[in-house]
Amino acid sequence: MAISTERQRLLTLRRQIHTANAAYYQGLATGYTDAEFDALLAELQTIEAAHPEWVTPDSPTQQVGSDLAGHGFVSVRHTIPMLSLGNTYSEAELTNFDGRLTRILGEPVHGYVCEMKIDGVALSLRYHDGELSRALTRGDGTHGDDVTVNVRTITAIPPWIDGAPAELEVRGEVYMGLTAFARLNERRMADGEEPLANPRNATAGTLKTLDPREVARRPLAFFAYEALVDGTADTPHHQTLARLVRWGFPVEPHHQRCGSIEAAIDYCRRWREARRDLDYLTDGVVLKVDDPTQRQAAGFTAKSPRWAIAFKFPPDRATTTVERIEVQVGRTGKLTPVAHLTPVTLAGTTVSRATLHNQDEIDRKGVRQGDRVEIEKAGEIIPQVVAVLDPERPDRGPCFVMPTACPACGGEVVRDPDGVAHRCINIHCPAQREAVILHFASRRAMDIEGLGPALVAQLINAGLLHDYADLFSLADHREAIAALERMGERSTDNLLAAIEEAKQRPFARLLFGLGIRFVGEKTAYLLAAALPSLDTVASADEETLQAIPEVGPVIAESVRRFFADPVNQALLRRLREAGVQVEATPEEKAPDQPLAGLTFVLTGALSRPRREVADWIHALGGRTTSSVSRNTDYLVCGDAPGAKRRHAEALGVPILNEAQLAALAGVRE
Ligand code: IVH
Repeated sequence: MAISTERQRLLTLRRQIHTANAAYYQGLATGYTDAEFDALLAELQTIEAAHPEWVTPDSPTQQVGSDLAGHGFVSVRHTIPMLSLGNTYSEAELTNFDGRLTRILGEPVHGYVCEMKIDGVALSLRYHDGELSRALTRGDGTHGDDVTVNVRTITAIPPWIDGAPAELEVRGEVYMGLTAFARLNERRMADGEEPLANPRNATAGTLKTLDPREVARRPLAFFAYEALVDGTADTPHHQTLARLVRWGFPVEPHHQRCGSIEAAIDYCRRWREARRDLDYLTDGVVLKVDDPTQRQAAGFTAKSPRWAIAFKFPPDRATTTVERIEVQVGRTGKLTPVAHLTPVTLAGTTVSRATLHNQDEIDRKGVRQGDRVEIEKAGEIIPQVVAVLDPERPDRGPCFVMPTACPACGGEVVRDPDGVAHRCINIHCPAQREAVILHFASRRAMDIEGLGPALVAQLINAGLLHDYADLFSLADHREAIAALERMGERSTDNLLAAIEEAKQRPFARLLFGLGIRFVGEKTAYLLAAALPSLDTVASADEETLQAIPEVGPVIAESVRRFFADPVNQALLRRLREAGVQVEATPEEKAPDQPLAGLTFVLTGALSRPRREVADWIHALGGRTTSSVSRNTDYLVCGDAPGAKRRHAEALGVPILNEAQLAALAGVRE
């Protein structure tokens, strides 16, 4: 092949592999069988072997396709430091900023571009020959975390760009839209998980998630706001934004070129209110000098560019009175103190309640019933109490103390051993009923299709469902169910069939679904492997429980407490009578199998598709996970391994080739 054709082929292969990886991590069809995918990778390796000078760190051979889920995040030096931005809350400061620039430049600023300041997480995206090669968070400005693998799952970020300069850096903000955030939290609560605090935390947490498939499920969005060619902005900023759009990046659509600082100030005033109609959070406006020559002349201070400034919107605040403090029981049993306020208008809505989070937070702020308080809505969706305005008032009420009995059921309240939350530990507490049932029915537990929050709420209200054992007698109420909102005959039959089918779920899933505190999916599998029936788990003492890998005193105590409870015992009896599978299947009783109790990670090109090797390991009782950690027993390594091999070496995890794996399993290949 002529050099240029070969080079072309190399670029095409990289693009195809990157696209397939991105699709894979989003749970979409890649368009290739495993064998075809492996063939693409092998062809790329052949070309690179002949031209080592073409090997770049962004090549999939260096990152090894589905290997991408590294363990932890590597801190990488920014090619161009990510500086911060000077900011102000005052219009007079904006005028000063303009005056300062005029003096430095020796001429008036030719114009500004005003952009919304998106409240998310800053990203730097490097494109090499048009291919996304690296995505870093801002970090400390000098070094950022390499989140390339996760960023590849964000559909708003193009994995390659046609007609881009050879070396390009795009900067922008990853964020989560308000509707998407609300939906995510609804789903989390339906699954019995804590809601996330605000879209920014949700975004930052997601970017740092170790499993890219999980990242792909989260609704992350992106707005690009800078493009650096050879390290600098090379066109007027308003043209750069247009160019970013042509390259396929989303750009916040409300940016505007302003001919003077007065026009820019006017823009800030308008958006202070208008921003409330946007489906994403903004905390201000960024004013940027438009002309690249003027930008260069203005330069930088040690911390930030002199050619830009952030005008921050003041957080919306109001003053009101705490009429009383009430404790709410969340669907996971968490007790949250809530301040009931004299209604007050804040950011265009009437606020009559504010969360006080937990006992520690109340102690820190010193909030008591009757206090005058300042409340704020900033990057948060829920209003917060900022401060008590009259802490010296002589006739103040008593300090708040969390109740020792659950306000919803009178059950025992305990403080989380690992945190600040107080929790009602009675799973029959009516406040938790819905979440407990939804957890039982959730995909990773008993997987009852069609049983969502709306239906569970209706069934509870209709008196047909009090606990999860009731699910198995719903067949006796077919007509009543069919009469529920959005049900009907067909949906009812489907639901009843799904419930019937769920009786056969593996024992570990049942254990997970029971909702025993601290028994997550993994613990449930370990418990089921060691104690393969409901009877043996129920009768196990703490010593027996603690002998199981990863089960410590907290889990052991929680399991023991769950099974000692007479109400739970009756519940389990009903599950058993309904015909629910309460024993481990032969595969779950993994201890007899050659690879039982061992965790493997696969990497590199193996002789068979990776999925086949993984299935084979599972059939022999082993487990596979996607990333190397201290809990990995062996790394099984094929040709062209990537970062995982380095991680395994660094952690001292033994590395096997396929023949050694077969030997370990006692099988001759
Ligand atoms: S420009 C050196 N434009 O604000 C200038 N930043 O406080 C680089 N941000 O870390 C930033 N929207 O995370 C710029 N339209 C926008 C922005 C924006 C949000 C964030 C960004 C940055 C922080 C600075």
